[in-house]
Amino acid sequence: MSNQPYKVLLTDAERFPPSEEDMKTLSAIGAELVGIPYGAKEEELVEICKDIDAVLVFAAKITARVIENMQRCRIIARCGIGYDNIDIGAAADRRIPVTFVPDYCIEEVSDHTIGLMIDCLRKISFSNERVKRRYWDNYEQLGTMRRIAGQTVGLVGFGRIAQAIARKLSGFNMRIVACDPFVDPAVMEAMGVARVDFDELIRSANVVSLHLPLTPATRHCLNEKVFKQMKRGTIVINTSRGALIDERALIDSILSGHIAAAGLDVLETEPPDLENELVKLPQVVVTPHSAAYTEEALAENKQKAIAEIVRCFKGQALKNLVPGSVKHA
Ligand SMILES: NC(=O)c1ccc[n+]([C@@H]2O[C@H](COP(=O)([O-])OP(=O)(O)OC[C@H]3O[C@@H](n4cnc5c(N)ncnc54)[C@H](O)[C@@H]3O)[C@@H](O)[C@H]2O)c1
Repeated sequence: MSNQPYKVLLTDAERFPPSEEDMKTLSAIGAELVGIPYGAKEEELVEICKDIDAVLVFAAKITARVIENMQRCRIIARCGIGYDNIDIGAAADRRIPVTFVPDYCIEEVSDHTIGLMIDCLRKISFSNERVKRRYWDNYEQLGTMRRIAGQTVGLVGFGRIAQAIARKLSGFNMRIVACDPFVDPAVMEAMGVARVDFDELIRSANVVSLHLPLTPATRHCLNEKVFKQMKRGTIVINTSRGALIDERALIDSILSGHIAAAGLDVLETEPPDLENELVKLPQVVVTPHSAAYTEEALAENKQKAIAEIVRCFKGQALKNLVPGSVKHA
């Protein structure tokens, strides 16, 4: 180890402050933490990343330009599951490994997703807003509501979070269908989930919930054409990534009454413009990308990401490399 301490950059630092334990772990390997606030611009990231040895990244976009200007970075450790904010190809070209934390918030996101489903199906936030504005609505003013038991939930993507949702929904007596070309059909069968393709899911579900990564292939997978194929009155839930949905098409489908409601933890642009028409629609329940948040998950997320940095500086094998990453610097 050189006499100079390693410099580890923490992005979105005020939103995700390090704990005492995180600081101890880093100082034990001779590393000091520098922070950059949430919403930092690309130029600021380019500048600060020039002389850092590792990046602990939450939401900041680690673009090709940021990576190309890194002079001694040895690891990019994403604090989280999705890694669409990091240019993995550019990191591989510079031989910088990228790690992620695939398993820290499965309970939280599955709970939150079911919370949004129930909220939209029971019109809880909608009714709450109205009561606070001094309306004590009769049933007619609340609009159509249907019994949850017997409805069909369609899970697009059947990885860790969707499987936890299927397990937790089993007490609701709903029919669960899922599409995921990369998951063994036996996994679905064992959980009593019907395997369907995307088109059948879209046409048959009363609730469509997204649980797949954002990639060029999945971007805007819910778009105008797809919304039109859904049943009238469908509810759309997204706790994955905002850009999976064409937001303009969702707004139009809600305004026309074809889509009944949406529960969204993620938006195409974050932090969003809070004048965004979608956010203001009474049929839309929005949470501020907080589905993963609990004290427990946040602590586990940072500890696991920091553990990868420790392994990297100690020359040990990294545990959770993202697909397409190089194995070591
Ligand atoms: N809101 C939050 O705070 C939050 C927190 C954690 C994860 N997430 C997001 O949740 C999503 C799912 O996370 P996970 O832990 O279940 O991931 P996972 O990797 O376990 O599962 C994703 C699944 O999507 C499938 N998939 C990929 N392309 C597909 C396609 N075209 N059609 C159907 N399925 C496809 C994969 O085969 C995989 O099984 C990710 O987008 C992640 O970024 C959000």
